Amino acid sequence: MKYNLSEIIALIKDRRTIYPEKYKSRKVHKEQIETMLEAANWAPTHGMTEPWRFKVFSGNKLRELMHLMAEIYRDTTSPDQFMESKYQRYAERAEKTSYVIAVCMKRQDSERIPEIEEVMAVACAVQNMMLIATAYGIGTFWSTGGGVFSERLHNYLNLGSKDKCLGLIYLGYPEDEWPKGKRGIIYNKVEWYD
Ligand SMILES: Cc1cc2nc3c(=O)[nH]c(=O)nc-3n(C[C@H](O)[C@H](O)[C@H](O)COP(=O)(O)O)c2cc1C
Repeated sequence: MKYNLSEIIALIKDRRTIYPEKYKSRKVHKEQIETMLEAANWAPTHGMTEPWRFKVFSGNKLRELMHLMAEIYRDTTSPDQFMESKYQRYAERAEKTSYVIAVCMKRQDSERIPEIEEVMAVACAVQNMMLIATAYGIGTFWSTGGGVFSERLHNYLNLGSKDKCLGLIYLGYPEDEWPKGKRGIIYNKVEWYD
């Protein structure tokens, strides 16, 4: 065996979605983000297009991003559905989170590789990143809700017309105990053809 399989499996099972509301004040460091990005860069990529792009937000730029997300929420929600608490949540997230990474897909100019494959490659890169976060004891939240797929965020992130934002990844140390995960058994999701 080349690697410690039981540790790798434990790490994979231990990766957890943890929401910014549950982060404690301990900061995530830039060097940790860099290690996550380095791992992300080793995702598989059909045709070596390496379509993953990351825009890393912290400090005032993170506040600006969260303000934009709050504004998009307000402007796209009918007054009877609008919740002030949801609007305010973005400002709170900016204070609770040291880094948010906007995960983007850079579309190949020639479009030779199907878009779905580029999206899958970026998802693999995200998983790599989240596993490194887990190794540090950092929780992640891959958010695709709210205005993540909106034109306003697309423009704010300076993406090309065929590029896509695939989510915002929040990172932070949990204030409570590391949560337990839950999955149905794998055998119900597999068919073997021998
Ligand atoms: C592509 C993708 C998008 C997601 N978007 C959201 C989201 O917008 N809101 C949310 O609460 N969770 C989101 N999640 C996280 C899931 O809710 C989470 O993975 C699931 O509850 C299982 O928990 P675990 O990640 O701790 O195993 C997303 C996950 C993936 C893979």
